[in-house]
Amino acid sequence: MTARARIAVIGAGWWATTVHIPALMVNPHAELVAICDPNPARAQSAAAEADAHGYTDVTEMLAAEGLDGVIIATPHSTHYAIAAEALKAGVNVLVEKPLATSASDAWELVTMAADRGLLLAAGLTYHYAAQAPAIRDAVRHEIGELRSVNAEFSSSTGDFFVVVDENSANPNDPKAPHATTYSDPSTGGGQAHTQLTHLLGGLLWAAEEQATHVAAMTENHGLRVDLVDSFSFRLEGGALCVASSTGTTAPGVPPRHRIRFHGTKGMVEWDLLKAQADVFLEGGTVRQLENPDHLPAYGRERVSESFVNSILTNAPTPAPGAFAAASVALIEAALFAAESGKTITVPQAPFDIRES
Ligand SMILES: NC(=O)c1ccc[n+]([C@@H]2O[C@H](COP(=O)([O-])OP(=O)(O)OC[C@H]3O[C@@H](n4cnc5c(N)ncnc54)[C@H](O)[C@@H]3O)[C@@H](O)[C@H]2O)c1
Repeated sequence: MTARARIAVIGAGWWATTVHIPALMVNPHAELVAICDPNPARAQSAAAEADAHGYTDVTEMLAAEGLDGVIIATPHSTHYAIAAEALKAGVNVLVEKPLATSASDAWELVTMAADRGLLLAAGLTYHYAAQAPAIRDAVRHEIGELRSVNAEFSSSTGDFFVVVDENSANPNDPKAPHATTYSDPSTGGGQAHTQLTHLLGGLLWAAEEQATHVAAMTENHGLRVDLVDSFSFRLEGGALCVASSTGTTAPGVPPRHRIRFHGTKGMVEWDLLKAQADVFLEGGTVRQLENPDHLPAYGRERVSESFVNSILTNAPTPAPGAFAAASVALIEAALFAAESGKTITVPQAPFDIRES
């Protein structure tokens, strides 16, 4: 076992520079050795800040640094190619959400990682909460057969999806408005890939099932990408689910990120933002799974911490690639369903997602 995991961050934009890089810099089990971004100014300034090597080319960095793991925080449509290259180089991978923008790409990453005995984790932040595994276990083992799931993700993300004039923003400022990362259909922008992916990743992971059929409607409200989504879908075991998501939550109105799992013997209500759940069982028993006081409910820093820990100890990741891939497959099919106005059969993974 390496004393400290040698980690690189790929993408030196908003999320990497505000969350992953600062968290890695204070993690005693991680050595942040390199940062890569095709924008040389971003790569150099982030690398200088972290006392790491700066790169503009992923291939060159992978060949030079002898890495244990990479964290990929780049635009959605770039995730697959970068992750595939890192896995081929024998490096463990944490990919920000969504894992990829097509089911076939997502499944290929899962298969590549499994074939090589490497870790493939997704940056689905809510899975890393202290109680998330207990909430998952309550859904899987305490509430009987799942019959229905009701899920909501509302946020004020509308501004992310507005097309920004690249000339009006400083392209070297990672905190400047994102010119194309979220606003362009070709880069995998929009509410579904950006936000619903959190909700659906959590839903499928807790239920331990894939979706089989989906009908959907989306609204763009003048944008080039979806801003409001309503998905209705069936899981393998027959449970019927509704997931709705909007990026239009008004300023000052609290966002809601919640999933209710209704089983034949009880119900679990998971509040993702509070990192807690209520478990209601037949006969009137209520159990609360509360976030420990000493941990923040929104533990963004725990994502890289968990990745490093899994590399060093082989501990399983709470956000396995297989379930993140299942949510990619559902979103891809749902966006097609919305476009075509038809109920779509969701393609199934070419492996058992429960064993991946
Ligand atoms: N888990 C969460 O809650 C959460 C929150 C915010 C963002 N994210 C995710 O983080 C990722 C990055 O988002 P962001 O807001 O930081 O975007 P951003 O646009 O601010 O930054 C993306 C960076 O990637 C760089 N880049 C583009 N193509 C690249 C390539 N081929 N190789 C290396 N770098 C490349 C860009 O130059 C840019 O600096 C996205 O997947 C996003 O969904 C996750």
